[in-house]
Formats: sequence, structure tokens, C-alpha cells
Amino acid sequence: MKIDHLGIATRGIEEALRFWEDALGLENVHTETVDDQKVRVAMLPLGESRIELLEPTSDDSPISRFLDKRGGGLHHIAIRVDDIEAALARLKEKGMRLIDESPRIGAEGCRVAFVHPSAANGVLLELVQNDPAL
Ligand code: CO
Repeated sequence: MKIDHLGIATRGIEEALRFWEDALGLENVHTETVDDQKVRVAMLPLGESRIELLEPTSDDSPISRFLDKRGGGLHHIAIRVDDIEAALARLKEKGMRLIDESPRIGAEGCRVAFVHPSAANGVLLELVQNDPAL
């Protein structure tokens, strides 16, 4: 397993890029809107991982709620797995609380599923399976 990306909640990606891109020197290689999750994301490669900047696209986006509560910051850690179905089945078998019982389509067409923070010491975890067929 590897860290696929670190998700950071922002009010606006353009504003956030003033730090991550202009000042720090990372490069925004990919921006897209994920309608299902009501977010716009920007991906900035960092080593073998990425920083994922998240911006809400509506007031009822999970990112809007997070921003209202916390004002921004680290939102989730995404772990790349080879077999997301197997990873979910294992977690379920161990009695871990899941947000997504089965994978859905996330950024870049990857299959993703979120694990509830109560299962992982308060950290929201996203499992990602890169599907080369997509
Ligand atoms: Co993510």
C-alpha cells in the first residue's frame, strides 16, 4: 500500500494554489469536478504521492461542512490498494465502520471508498484503487 494523496480542504483552489504552487513550487497537473462528492479537486504531485486540494461546489458538500466546522486543513488521507473490494471486506469483517460499503467513482475515474474516522483514530481514510482500464 502507498499514500495516494493527502486531501486538503480549501474555500478556493485558486487561492490555495498561491501557496502550494506559486510559493512552495509544486505543480497543479490536473483539475476536475467530482459531481458525486460535490467538490472540485486539484492534484499536485509530491514524490510518489500527491496533494489533493478540495473546494466545495455547493453548500451541502461534505467539504462545506468541514470548512464551517474547522475552517480548512487536512481533510483525509488516501491509501492506494490493489483490491479495494478485498480491503473493504477485510475492514467489514473486523467490524470497522465504513462510510462507503462499496466503491464509487472518484477523481480521475478511480474506484474509491471512505472509511469512517471513528474506525481510524479520528482520521478520515479514503481507499483508492487505480484502475488502468479506465
Ligand atoms: Co481524496
